[in-house]
Amino acid sequence: MKNFVVAIDGPAGSGKSSISKLVCEKLGFTHIDTGAMYRAVTLEALKRKIDVENENEYSFIDEIDVVYKDGKVFLNGEDVSGFIRTSEVTNNASAVSRVKAVRDKMVDFQRGCRNYGNILMDGRDIGTVVFPDADLKVFLTATPEERAKRRCLENKTLGVESDFNTILEEIKARDYKDSHRAIAPLKQADDAILVDTTNMSIDEVCQEILRLIDERL
Ligand code: C5P
Repeated sequence: MKNFVVAIDGPAGSGKSSISKLVCEKLGFTHIDTGAMYRAVTLEALKRKIDVENENEYSFIDEIDVVYKDGKVFLNGEDVSGFIRTSEVTNNASAVSRVKAVRDKMVDFQRGCRNYGNILMDGRDIGTVVFPDADLKVFLTATPEERAKRRCLENKTLGVESDFNTILEEIKARDYKDSHRAIAPLKQADDAILVDTTNMSIDEVCQEILRLIDERL
C-alpha cells in the first residue's frame, strides 16, 4: 500500500502543531512540522546577521541542511529545536520564508519526507504546493482573537507572561505577510476541508481529523 499523506495548513496559532502531534501519536503516523524548518533557517539568518529583507543575502542557503525528525529540527546536524521559538525568530520567520531560494530548498527537503512512511505534514503550503496530491487536506483556522488567547495561555504554561494585544497584533501581522507573499501564500487548497476550531476543544478537533482520515484509509 502506498504511504498515506495528510496535509494540514493554517495560520499561526490555529492549533496545527498540538493537533498534529496527537493525531500522529494515535495513528503511528510521522509528524513533520514545516514551520520548525523555516524557523531553523531564520535562526541561521539571524546568526549570520544578514538583512532578512534582502533576497540577495541568502547565498548561505546552499550550505545548509535542515532535517525534521522525531519532533526535533536539525540544522547541519545540530539539534536547534530549543532555539527556534524565541520572539525574534517568530517575528522574522515570515520575511525569511518569502525568499524563493529558501522555499525551493525547504520544499525539496519536505518532499523527501515521503519516505518516512505514513506522514502528517503541517504548514502553510502543504496542500497547495508541497503535496498537491495529498490523501487528505485540512485547512485549520480560528479567529485571530482566539488564536492570540491560546498563544497567551501556552506562554503562561511555559512561565512566560505575555500581553494579549501585543500577541494579537503580531498574529495579525504574520497572517498578513504569510497570505500576501508572491510565492506559496497561505491559502486554503480548493480540495481542502475547512475546520474552524474557534469553538472546538483540542479533543474535538482531533476526533474530527481522525474521522476524516478514517474515511479515506
Ligand atoms: O508554523 P509556524 O508558526 O512555526 O511557522 C513559522 C513561519 O514559517 C510562518 O509564519 C511562515 O512564515 C513560515 N512557514 C511557511 N511555510 C510553511 C510553514 C511555515 O512559510 N509551510
